[in-house]
Amino acid sequence: MKVGVFDSGIGGLTVVKSLLEHQLFEEIIYFGDTARVPYGVKDKNTIVRYSLEALEFFKNFEIDLLITACNTVSAYALEEMRAQAPFDVIGVVEPGIIATKNALNDTSANVLVLGTNATINSKAYETLLSAHGFNNTTSKATGLFVPIIEEGLFDGEILESTLEHYFKGLSCPDGIILGCTHFPLIADAIADYFNNNTTLIHSGEAIVEYLESHYKFETKYSNPEIKFFASENPESLRQTAQKWLDLPEK
Ligand code: DGL
Repeated sequence: MKVGVFDSGIGGLTVVKSLLEHQLFEEIIYFGDTARVPYGVKDKNTIVRYSLEALEFFKNFEIDLLITACNTVSAYALEEMRAQAPFDVIGVVEPGIIATKNALNDTSANVLVLGTNATINSKAYETLLSAHGFNNTTSKATGLFVPIIEEGLFDGEILESTLEHYFKGLSCPDGIILGCTHFPLIADAIADYFNNNTTLIHSGEAIVEYLESHYKFETKYSNPEIKFFASENPESLRQTAQKWLDLPEK
């Protein structure tokens, strides 16, 4: 199977990392809209328009499936993309909710949803959590983490004070949905902040769980073909991918 992975920028590489670890695909085509990132501060019309333009890009490839790794796109543009796509389009919100349900196994659990402003304002996670019986939820837009992660500040003073800024006074939740592509990169710091007493839900792992229960994967691909594209500075995205994904030199 060949898959496309779409994100507003480099963050979707965290989802690619999970796909690679589970060796699901023969070929992965990644597109990051680096010229127009961040999407998380934009309105619905813009997010949908950019997402449909990305969809046109993916139509140039013979993919079987498109994953929108971006939570913001998944929250706003999935229906519009599905209506125009000749292949399946999967977002990360529904898989995230299913993974939460499987991990916590208790609908009275207190769930904290983190995401960009747009994702949190959409209430996409809250609405679906509630439909699955989870009504003890808190949502927090934590967009400052995005540039901090892009700067590579995965620990240290700046990250610590931002964690404090967002989480001060919050009681430790039973589970935290990392509802933004970037957040798995600071998963350890978030878990530490809550003394490792909370369960973190990671979009990449959630997507793998979802894919494995909805599609048949008969072969493992330990060395898939991966092509990286970006709307600006693709070389920089390729270098980040090399570093984050620990790719073998080809
Ligand atoms: N990829 C985005 C998301 O998962 C985060 C970065 C952005 O704001 O574009 O919501």
